[in-house]
Amino acid sequence: MPMNSLEFEPGDFKPEIEIASPGRINLIGEHTDYNKGFVFPAAIDKKIIFGIRKNGSPSLCRVYSADFERLLEFDLGEVKQSSLEWENFILGVIFEIQNLDRQLKGFDCVIKSSLPIGAGLSSSAAMECGLAFGLNELFDLKLSRLEMALLSQRAEHNFVGTQCGIMDQYASLMGLAGQALLLDCESVTHMYIPVDLAPYELILLNTKVSHSLATGEYNLRRADCFEGVEIIRSKAGYQVRSLRDVSEDQLVECRDLLPTRIYGRCNYVIQENKRVIEAAEALREKNLEEFGKLLYASHEGLQNEYEVSCDELDFLVDFSRDKPYVLGSRMMGGGFGGCTLNLVHEERVDQYVSEVSAAYKNRFDIEIDAIPVSPARGTHIIQ
Ligand code: GLA
Repeated sequence: MPMNSLEFEPGDFKPEIEIASPGRINLIGEHTDYNKGFVFPAAIDKKIIFGIRKNGSPSLCRVYSADFERLLEFDLGEVKQSSLEWENFILGVIFEIQNLDRQLKGFDCVIKSSLPIGAGLSSSAAMECGLAFGLNELFDLKLSRLEMALLSQRAEHNFVGTQCGIMDQYASLMGLAGQALLLDCESVTHMYIPVDLAPYELILLNTKVSHSLATGEYNLRRADCFEGVEIIRSKAGYQVRSLRDVSEDQLVECRDLLPTRIYGRCNYVIQENKRVIEAAEALREKNLEEFGKLLYASHEGLQNEYEVSCDELDFLVDFSRDKPYVLGSRMMGGGFGGCTLNLVHEERVDQYVSEVSAAYKNRFDIEIDAIPVSPARGTHIIQ
């Protein structure tokens, strides 16, 4: 166990406060957030726990990750990017808090996670938001939940290098038990919608692959969309600021102006925004068949037009297609690995998991993880 000169011993650590910071699922609305569209996420009952206390030093900070068994030590006066991704989640948040002229002092923190890392459940956002929330409490920084979400997103942009949207941080901080958030990423406001899926359940299947191009490809998708908007504005003369402003008819009119790849990206985003609104309506009416169809349609767009799926994800979705007890299935999150989200009849979950696991093992020689999830409370103090 790492020790240092101030004899910080993570094993005997007595925190002043403990924070639970959840991961998230997204029911539908993928890659729409940075296009100022709609998303439909929820915080989940898998989380990162932060124990945190002041350490009496003016500027020395120590953060111990129990999962990586590593201690990060830094001085508040010298916060710089690290070569380790998890350290950048921490350092990025500190940097962005200081950028808002909030005063921090030395603290010690121990982090433990029940969230699988790299599974597309936003362990990164959970890490950023949990730390921001804990420091806000400890040093009475007077940051709102929205400010914490936005500064955590900036940490991801400036320290981690992913030009992500606001969905993950927002869902992690704003989630409520039993509710999903219909989030408008233009106004950055949301409505809660109850998630009543009985007799169906949400089951995640973790492919256990995380193709390493994820960050680079993610930023390229974003650039494709922005290029599409630029062409629609400059060549067709439409006053659009983002794909949110582009109608289906306008996109069709611009077809010849747009490279085929960019047209597909834009079409996917415009259709996905429509699907989010339809899915929220279907959920309100408890029309689960319709809701499930929208999940499949979302996957098709992500696979064929947005091109962020991969063989493992496609295999799992295809496996579900002809099973009448699976109403919907799609890849979830940024893509290139991570989990599929599946709406499965409660009486067939065991059968489904055992059949799909066997088929996946046979095809890829990987043991799948099945994770039941339900909407849970956002970042909070553990009493
Ligand atoms: C990642 C990003 C989000 C969002 C999703 C795709 O999770 O962090 O902002 O863009 O991918 O929907």
